[in-house]
Amino acid sequence: MKGPGHPERGGAHTIWSVFKLLLVVGFTVVTVANGQAPARLSIEVNHVVSLVSPTLYGLMTEEINHSYDGGLYAEMIQNRSFHEDWEGEPPWDLVRRGNSIASRMLDKSTGPSETLNYSMKLSVAEASVGNEAGLTNPGYWGYGLKPHTTYTGSLYAKVDDTGVGPIAIKMVSDATGKVLAQAKVVVEAGAWKRYEYKLVTGAEAASVANHLELTVAHAGTVWLQMVSLMPPTFHERPNGNRIDLMERMAAMHPGFLRLPGGNYLEGMTVQDRFNWKKTIGPLTDRAGHSGPWFYWSTDGLGLLEFLEWCEDLKVEPVLAVYAGYSLGGTHVAVGKDLEPYVQDALDEVEYVTGDATTKWGAERSKDGHPAPFPLHYIEIGNEDYLDKSGSYTERYAQFAEALHARYPEYKLIATDGNSEYETKVHPDVSDEHYYKSPADMMDLVHHYDQASRSGPKIFVGEWATRSGSPTPNFGDALGDAAWMTSMERNSDLIVMASYAPLLVNVSPGGMQWPTDLIGFNAGTTYVSPSYWAQSLFAGHLGDGTAQSSIAGENKRFFYSATVSNKERVLHLKLVNASNIDQPLMIDLNGVQGNHHAAITSLHGATFEATNTLSDPEAIRPVESKANISGSKWAHTVKALTIEVIDLPY
Ligand code: AHR
Repeated sequence: MKGPGHPERGGAHTIWSVFKLLLVVGFTVVTVANGQAPARLSIEVNHVVSLVSPTLYGLMTEEINHSYDGGLYAEMIQNRSFHEDWEGEPPWDLVRRGNSIASRMLDKSTGPSETLNYSMKLSVAEASVGNEAGLTNPGYWGYGLKPHTTYTGSLYAKVDDTGVGPIAIKMVSDATGKVLAQAKVVVEAGAWKRYEYKLVTGAEAASVANHLELTVAHAGTVWLQMVSLMPPTFHERPNGNRIDLMERMAAMHPGFLRLPGGNYLEGMTVQDRFNWKKTIGPLTDRAGHSGPWFYWSTDGLGLLEFLEWCEDLKVEPVLAVYAGYSLGGTHVAVGKDLEPYVQDALDEVEYVTGDATTKWGAERSKDGHPAPFPLHYIEIGNEDYLDKSGSYTERYAQFAEALHARYPEYKLIATDGNSEYETKVHPDVSDEHYYKSPADMMDLVHHYDQASRSGPKIFVGEWATRSGSPTPNFGDALGDAAWMTSMERNSDLIVMASYAPLLVNVSPGGMQWPTDLIGFNAGTTYVSPSYWAQSLFAGHLGDGTAQSSIAGENKRFFYSATVSNKERVLHLKLVNASNIDQPLMIDLNGVQGNHHAAITSLHGATFEATNTLSDPEAIRPVESKANISGSKWAHTVKALTIEVIDLPY
């Protein structure tokens, strides 16, 4: 295999003539160990052949696999606004203790806002203390409760008279019926009003198999809407995100967040696109919409929440704007018909970046975020090569011309995977997607080595090695690591890349797309071998690719050699996807004196080996050190092993 320093790119560098003599000694050391001839890896730490993009590794998510509702978005109550088209069984059922008599119905005649102009009507004919009646909600496959924790709740309610008494809100164990936390809301007679409550848990161990009950102890009628319950959130943001999932993402060292999707941007129909204007402002003004992954989206995680998520992770958004094509196959005709969508995109960029003197900047300020957000990239559409009408070229041009005229400072990303089409406004960047099996991903690693450097830059906006389910197995991690060596080597061309999908609720029925990086349920998360590979690669990225070459390696051995120039650290990624050990003689040209190499290894016994919710630590990184004296290093990478090595020089 040719490394980044091969003749076609940066000039050949052969140091083996000097090295040969020492190699004989090295051969003896490593061949004795495993009977296999060592490959010869040569690296010149002081010769950078190309730059590595600081934003190479980022995040891509969308509403799929209950990534947001029932996932990252911390709301615990399923279908809090009693939407009719909710996926599956309606989650709200009746609680009728003793001989209580009660019924429930969706009442389309009253609600707390113009958007939520309907509600759940609870009619209780008979109830008493000990024989309460009301509603129960299962949460998103349970409620993740932790000891000594405060959960913040709110609800909209209306009663005609107060005879029904207070509403008791209880978190109840499924197994024992034990009440784990409770609160009371006293509802005033008359108009709709918002009430707050808190549920505080005691010393009981963390659990998930719990449900919520809202009951009354007297006859009467109560109308309810937007019944919400939030755990503590990341950075204590109201209407914010789950802490554990945010921490998992932060530990991936991301450089950006591509939002809001994926297919989620497009929707199945034009009407069900991510219509950002309907996802901002008070929650009672957000109707929600039907997502492309077969369930209703509350839009509680709307455009502003996406941006605040970026802010919390200290990354920039890569903002994808709807470009007039939806998955069902419809597209909006170029010209007059497309104009309102182009205007929506212009307004969206203003909402993100405009100051409070602009119309949409003022709107964002009113929504609680006066400061504009940073932005460098705008993506026009998603996977528009699927639009068989061929209209993308013209649609792209209409969007690009308008965006470019108003915002010349931002780089525009096109989503036709071929990047060969002609448009009047050439894209700065082309978004290309790769979903492959482990074998196919490994066979793709030289795809960009000879690619033209004179066209648009590349954004690998979605990529994943896919064989494990629900999360990647070790074979996938090897495919991912092999692919990452290739992206690092070609990062002068590939400016950004984001694995997809990122999140999956692994509860039965939670997943729509197998092979997702991080698994979770209502109470806990676990990470896949691929997650470890990615966070290790991103945490040791470097800023330049060092001149290097390799010879004699097995067919499934891959590597990347980058340096952090200022800190003078070599980051070596070695990927042995073969079932035989790979001995190496490494010439660290430019490294002098004695050094400690910090080695982090990830190993799986088979391609199929993996982590699960019940065995989350089966595969995890192991740290070790190696002493290196001078510029020669005999080192063996065990079979089925990924190593990330930091070597100061
Ligand atoms: O990542 C899952 C889906 O794959 C995305 O929504 C879509 O863009 C791609 O086809």
